[in-house]
Amino acid sequence: MKPNLRLLALSGALMLFTAGLVTAQKTDSLHRQPFGKTPDGQEVYLYTLTNKSGMAVKITNFGGRVTTIMAPDHNHKLDNVVLGFDSVEGYTVKPGSSGYFGAIIGRYANRLAKGTFTLDGQTYHVPTNEGRNMLHGGRQGFDSKVWDAKEVSSEDGTALELHYLSKDGEEGFPGNLNVTVRYSLDNRNRLRIDYTATTDKDTVVNLTNHSYFNLEGAGSETILNEKIMLAADRYTPVDSTLIPTGAIDSVAGTPLDFREPMVIGSRIEDNFEQLKLGKGYDHNFVLNHPGDLTKVAARVTDAKSGRVLEVFTTQPGVQFYTGNFLDGTVHGNGGVYRRRSALCLETQHFPDSPNHANFPSTELHAGETFHSTTIYRFAVE
Ligand code: GLA
Repeated sequence: MKPNLRLLALSGALMLFTAGLVTAQKTDSLHRQPFGKTPDGQEVYLYTLTNKSGMAVKITNFGGRVTTIMAPDHNHKLDNVVLGFDSVEGYTVKPGSSGYFGAIIGRYANRLAKGTFTLDGQTYHVPTNEGRNMLHGGRQGFDSKVWDAKEVSSEDGTALELHYLSKDGEEGFPGNLNVTVRYSLDNRNRLRIDYTATTDKDTVVNLTNHSYFNLEGAGSETILNEKIMLAADRYTPVDSTLIPTGAIDSVAGTPLDFREPMVIGSRIEDNFEQLKLGKGYDHNFVLNHPGDLTKVAARVTDAKSGRVLEVFTTQPGVQFYTGNFLDGTVHGNGGVYRRRSALCLETQHFPDSPNHANFPSTELHAGETFHSTTIYRFAVE
């Protein structure tokens, strides 16, 4: 080949390659739009993941929050099935700011008793924000941080990767914790969340997502007519401040037995102490198949819309919460969010694990990597 021809061939190949890249980006790329400014003036964005079956999932890098999940019903009609807001103000201004709507929760999801724990022989005191306990990572948990966002390609197409560095001492926790959360949506209507964390000092970690689901559509009156199955023979009973007593009890013969699908509202008002303490369901269920992403951990069905939500997770527990603290004062993108108009399935390690040697450990040691995966699969029947 003569040099000028070789050059021509090379540049031709380069053009084809670039064109290929551009098309790949066009078909797969994430849509990004402004989502407003945080109270301290930071610009945040809303990212939309879509798939070939028409589903769309919107996530903001403010708190890594899922704001919208458009899922099909039995007539192929798409509705938003999670409680959210149209701009960042909904998440930063009261009353919406206290509900953890759609957020990534950390550094320690759920409660730490009296804001105290011991690690490597040292006692740590972290700020309390729910009576005498710490809830969901404290006053400024991961739900209120601005995360770095980038588009990455995953096996299933495009994904949104969020990153946050929680500095040594933030909210009282030891170690610089590097957290990556990747959201991806595949063509089988599965929203997958992969969590990774590393630390430079021993610390404790419990990460989850706090989406509120209503399969009939966000803003629909109640989830009490929806059915749920929880693959959990046991749960961790709580005291009056919702801290586990340390017991791991059988669900058999109690209104917490969801091993067979049950209508959520059918026993919620039963005269059962744990339901009184939780003001409904607000309990950590001990999953029967921890670590196994092929076994369903939870399954919710809504007869009206035909929608089904299945949850798969590598985590050992799931907090099933029936929106008992929602009180109708919050107006979001789906209307008014009333008591028990949504449910959460927060896949997690058990609440207050650092204070219970019999619970799976939430310690992350310097140099180790924490991984967990949760999949929310949407279907119809
Ligand atoms: C979790 C808790 C609940 C409540 C919500 C947020 O689900 O277990 O008690 O704090 O978060 O309102």
